[in-house]
Amino acid sequence: MTINIILLGPPGAGKGTQARKLEEERGLVQLSTGDMLRAARSSGTEMGRRVAEVMDRGELVTDEIVIGLIREKLAEGGNGFIFDGFPRTLAQADALGALLDETGMTLDAVIEMQVDDAALVRRITGRFTCGNCGEVYHDETKPTAKPGVCDACGSTDLGRRADDNEDSLKTRLLEYYKKTSPLIGYYYAKGKLAPVDGLAAMDEVGAQIAAALNGK
Ligand code: AP5
Repeated sequence: MTINIILLGPPGAGKGTQARKLEEERGLVQLSTGDMLRAARSSGTEMGRRVAEVMDRGELVTDEIVIGLIREKLAEGGNGFIFDGFPRTLAQADALGALLDETGMTLDAVIEMQVDDAALVRRITGRFTCGNCGEVYHDETKPTAKPGVCDACGSTDLGRRADDNEDSLKTRLLEYYKKTSPLIGYYYAKGKLAPVDGLAAMDEVGAQIAAALNGK
């Protein structure tokens, strides 16, 4: 059955990790505004250069740009979406509601991934990603089986994100608490919120999400 869900949580909460799992298990399409913006920044355009500066500081890119990216993706159609890292402001949440209405889609659940700040710092500073397939790893909790080689695709293009440093992370956390955390109340009031323990082991988090989506 087709569902549309949001993964909501601070940087490093595990949104990308669980989105990839949900893609595999339920055939949903991951829409990560972070990934879309990273693709824009490597495009070499003036817009990409401006986006890169904002991301590296850990600040939020303008609502107009990210809403435009999501609008384009929804217009391409698809069979159920995971919104990963979007919406991040109340204006983005209102815009998503309007876009879903226009396309006749519904929002089925907002998974709130609860974690504490100390764990986020450890997760972000230990993270590395495959530049070829996007698989996400961690120095301690999810190393590659063979050092320097992606388990999923065999690529040796493994790297760390420019904004995964302590300075940018402080700004990213502030942005989250000031601008994104109000969405918890927003979606609670709409009856969509499903909290999960993001501190649990990856498979346990996946099981809690599956339980929250049971019957949807
Ligand atoms: P974005 O790419 O969305 O980054 P983020 O929200 O900061 O989230 P992360 O990707 O850092 O973390 P995650 O929750 O996906 O965690 P992950 O699964 O990787 O955004 C980047 C920037 O783009 C923003 O700062 C902003 O500038 C811009 N942007 C994006 N969207 C925007 C929007 N809508 N509006 C405006 N600006 C926007 O996991 C982290 C690590 O922990 C990994 O190493 C993983 O292996 C490990 N891990 C995961 N789960 C567990 C677990 N259960 N136990 C132990 N380790 C775990």
